[in-house]
Amino acid sequence: MAEPPLVEPPLVEPPLVELVETPVATALLDPPVVVSRQARQPGETLEPLDTPTLAPPRAPARRREGRAAHQAIVVSGVSKLYPRPSRADQPVLAVDDVSFTLEPGASMALVGASGSGKSTIAKMITGIEHPTSGSITFGDLKIDTIKRRGLKRLHREVQMVFQDPYAALNPLHTVEYTLTRPVVNYSGLRGREARRRVLELLETVGLTPVEQFAARLPHQLSGGQRQRVVIARALASDPQVIIADEPVSMLDVSLRAGLLALLENLRETWGVSMLYITHDLLSARLVTDQIMVLNKGRVVEAGNTASVLQNPKDDYTVRLLDAIPNPGRSSPGSPGGAV
Ligand SMILES: Nc1ncnc2c1ncn2[C@@H]1O[C@H](COP(=O)(O)OP(=O)(O)OP(=O)(O)O)[C@@H](O)[C@H]1O
Ligand SMILES: [Mg+2]
Repeated sequence: MAEPPLVEPPLVEPPLVELVETPVATALLDPPVVVSRQARQPGETLEPLDTPTLAPPRAPARRREGRAAHQAIVVSGVSKLYPRPSRADQPVLAVDDVSFTLEPGASMALVGASGSGKSTIAKMITGIEHPTSGSITFGDLKIDTIKRRGLKRLHREVQMVFQDPYAALNPLHTVEYTLTRPVVNYSGLRGREARRRVLELLETVGLTPVEQFAARLPHQLSGGQRQRVVIARALASDPQVIIADEPVSMLDVSLRAGLLALLENLRETWGVSMLYITHDLLSARLVTDQIMVLNKGRVVEAGNTASVLQNPKDDYTVRLLDAIPNPGRSSPGSPGGAV
């Protein structure tokens, strides 16, 4: 019998293109595979309405007549210094001289470790925080100094999807109520027309049968379904831009690919541009064309997503890439945990 080798062959790191060939990632690249079925154990059953619908979303007719042409978001030399939160603290330079342009229809990833300033950038773009210096513009809107009246105009075109679908929805409001308010506010539709639009939005985000989902309260939805409602609400104003701040990080791995496929599909069918904020380089690789790597508030690397991830120039990007779980070494059946 042949002796086993004394030295084990070295573990060869698969290149990134192989890394993304996890079951979840493959499903994402090849919709409309029902990802949850792949992740389900044999014999396991699901409540009928808990099945995430991953049919490609059908984009309703856009209602942009009379609205401005799509505009870029231009961020120039923006810094944000938070004052000392308490006497024992130092001021925090959360964002340090950041510049970039999010072009119409583009999808850009903003990646970096916790505390690197990603959410602060998202908040400044959506007018929730003002920069300490630098400028942010969206067409003729100066976001860096925006006031209440400008905010309504801005939020009609630039919508945000937050990380936590549990905190984002009022537990006392049905899905229909949650969606009707922005539909009425932004589109001016009333009564039956508004309801039709709400159902159309539910169909867009794959929550069918739409009438049943419209009547539900948040606690009657799974996390993935809640995040779909949050996305539907963001779409109610027919926006040009979606700022998605870690939109799938709190969801079960089996649901993430479907949500990301939905965002990607909206970009393709509606031409919505997207700033996709994440810790996760693999999902950034799957849904964005451009990437910006942020470290301690500074952009350390930027460019085409595939090129940056295949040939990172900055040590910090290399370290982030090294932190990606290697599916080759993960337990059998695990989707790698990264997407
Ligand atoms: N309101 C605030 N007051 C003081 N400091 C703040 C405030 N908001 C954020 N910070 C600090 O700014 C820095 C950047 O925070 P930010 O939330 O932008 O990071 P992040 O990259 O989104 O992190 P995570 O990945 O954990 O969400 C952190 O050091 C944070 O503690
Ligand atoms: Mg954050």
